Amino acid sequence: MFYPLRVSEVEQLTDDSVAVTFAVPPELRETFRHTPGQHLALRRRSAEGEEVRRTYSICSPAAPEGEDPLLRVGIRLVEGGEFSTYALKELQVGDMVEVMEPMGRFLLPPRPGHFAAVVGGSGITPVLSMASTLLAREPEARFCLVRSDRTAASTMFLEEVADLKDRYPGRFQLVTVLSREEQQSGLPSGRLDQERLTALLPALLPVDEVDGWYLCGPFGLVVGAERALRSLGVDRGRIHQEIFHVDDGSAPTAVRTASAPAHATLTATLDGRSGSWPVREGESLLETVLRGRSDAPYACKGGVCGTCRAFLVTGEVRMDRNYALESEETDAGYVLACQSHPVTPEVELDFDR
Ligand code: FES
Repeated sequence: MFYPLRVSEVEQLTDDSVAVTFAVPPELRETFRHTPGQHLALRRRSAEGEEVRRTYSICSPAAPEGEDPLLRVGIRLVEGGEFSTYALKELQVGDMVEVMEPMGRFLLPPRPGHFAAVVGGSGITPVLSMASTLLAREPEARFCLVRSDRTAASTMFLEEVADLKDRYPGRFQLVTVLSREEQQSGLPSGRLDQERLTALLPALLPVDEVDGWYLCGPFGLVVGAERALRSLGVDRGRIHQEIFHVDDGSAPTAVRTASAPAHATLTATLDGRSGSWPVREGESLLETVLRGRSDAPYACKGGVCGTCRAFLVTGEVRMDRNYALESEETDAGYVLACQSHPVTPEVELDFDR
């Protein structure tokens, strides 16, 4: 559900990105307590009355029990992006924004161990929350961050990351690769692809002793990093990933192996209430539910954020793509409603499980 929150700070990070902080009233303190790695869905109505939702990762450290949560998200301008344009050009301190409680399963709850991340561009946002929370709470934990950006000037959270380096010199390791800057101040340059990572990572740290790998950024970087880690013998269970900006040209979609039935009916349970609706040709199951229940949960509608996750009670569905659910979740019967289409004439989803 969405809550109106007041903007308490808008900080310009780079020419094309801002960090927005929300004030959390005392009665919503527990609702907005986040686990490092989670994101917030934000909602606004455009001048034409159309609803726009976007998800943005929380960059602030998670507050310990009993302390007020600090809720800050990083927003980078996407060309033609309605919400990001509004956030960069119009949003001001004192404005009210509708915000959903923290969600997502790209998580690093603080625990002892050695962790590492490979991030590109705005992929730093959830990882900043992970690293700062972990290093502050776990005196023995270590974190290695490999980040890739175009130029130093376009790098988000430069100061915050430098601050972690100063504060935890023995436990925080940082490698920055700039793709569009030649040997600037001795930093490595060029693209961070699978081949480069396969050579770089073992030189930086004992790859097989890392307890969790966190990959976040554009599709190509995340896939390249995952392949590099797999080729270095890292177990799939230790690799966590979140893809930003799925580009229709670069991301494969599921092969359509099953044909849709001529008529299908969807039954869905949401907040304890059930309803049944016919599925119109070509629409996703989320769209079917939204026609009858405007409170159905979603944010990206692109298979990335996981907000529309539902349990498939009966029937079979085909998903166009899935960048949000882990294989354990799909094996257990969860699907993304925004990507699902019926394969059987009767399908039942439960959004409450
Ligand atoms: S709404 Fe984001 S994955 Fe479905």
